[in-house]
Amino acid sequence: MVQTPSPPRAEANSESAVTLAALVNEINQFEAIVSEWDEAQRATVAGLRRAIEALHREALLRLIRQVKQEALPALRHAAEDELVYGLLRYYELVKPPTPPLAQRLQLALDEVRPGLQSHQGDVELVTVDPPLVEVRLIGTCGHCPAAGLTLSQGVEEAIKRHCPEITQVVAVQRHEGAIGEERLSPFATPDAGWLEVTALAEVPRNGVLAMKLEGRSLLLSRVNDRVVCFQNACSHLGVPVDAGEVEEGVLTCPYHHFRYDLATGECLTSPQTPLFSYPVEIRGGQVYVQLWGNA
Ligand code: FES
Repeated sequence: MVQTPSPPRAEANSESAVTLAALVNEINQFEAIVSEWDEAQRATVAGLRRAIEALHREALLRLIRQVKQEALPALRHAAEDELVYGLLRYYELVKPPTPPLAQRLQLALDEVRPGLQSHQGDVELVTVDPPLVEVRLIGTCGHCPAAGLTLSQGVEEAIKRHCPEITQVVAVQRHEGAIGEERLSPFATPDAGWLEVTALAEVPRNGVLAMKLEGRSLLLSRVNDRVVCFQNACSHLGVPVDAGEVEEGVLTCPYHHFRYDLATGECLTSPQTPLFSYPVEIRGGQVYVQLWGNA
């Protein structure tokens, strides 16, 4: 397996983009033809494809083993290319990098939030100092007799599952005067690498906004009360996915119709290949993202 510390980089030039589009288009045309064939013929084509892919995977595996021994940095650099990265992901020859702690904590809290909100409660992060996380149960959850249970069976369990490096989750009390004060993430510090990307008002609901930031291709969208940010690269072939249609919070790649849940980046077509996501903060009506995994 190749360890890729960074997400794929944008394509080097427009010429390669044209070639890539032509190649993807050719695949689309053949797939359209085959989709019209009867089941037995389609099964034969699928079998042939499986056999060829198995051969290619084995060859790639041998190539990676050899290059890894002789020129690991070159291999890492090659895997930063969107197409190469997409191919390695397709053949499961590259491990998706672990998202940063801030992002995984956000995921954990988002997971338990609907349950808390259905009881007029909520939860917020107060301190993150691995292996310790302090949270505050707010609304009715803060003074509910079952608050201990909410913490241990809901919040704590979700945090520990998403963030194995966190072994201690403690609930702290709200201090007087905190009602209505702006809630800032404990990660929202100037040295945490947050970059301003656009105004909140520019980010569409039921759609996506494609942007470039520091050489990265980004995809932003507004889902319920959150803004999400992903690498603008389909997990299938690494090509930009922003031209896809968004329907009921699901983005469909325009090429081979991989479907992505925009709330989480999860690929509904191939669950092991989510979109590469970046942490997002909203401050003063502006959207900030954290470009982790820099090459
Ligand atoms: S490039 Fe094939 S599904 Fe996106």
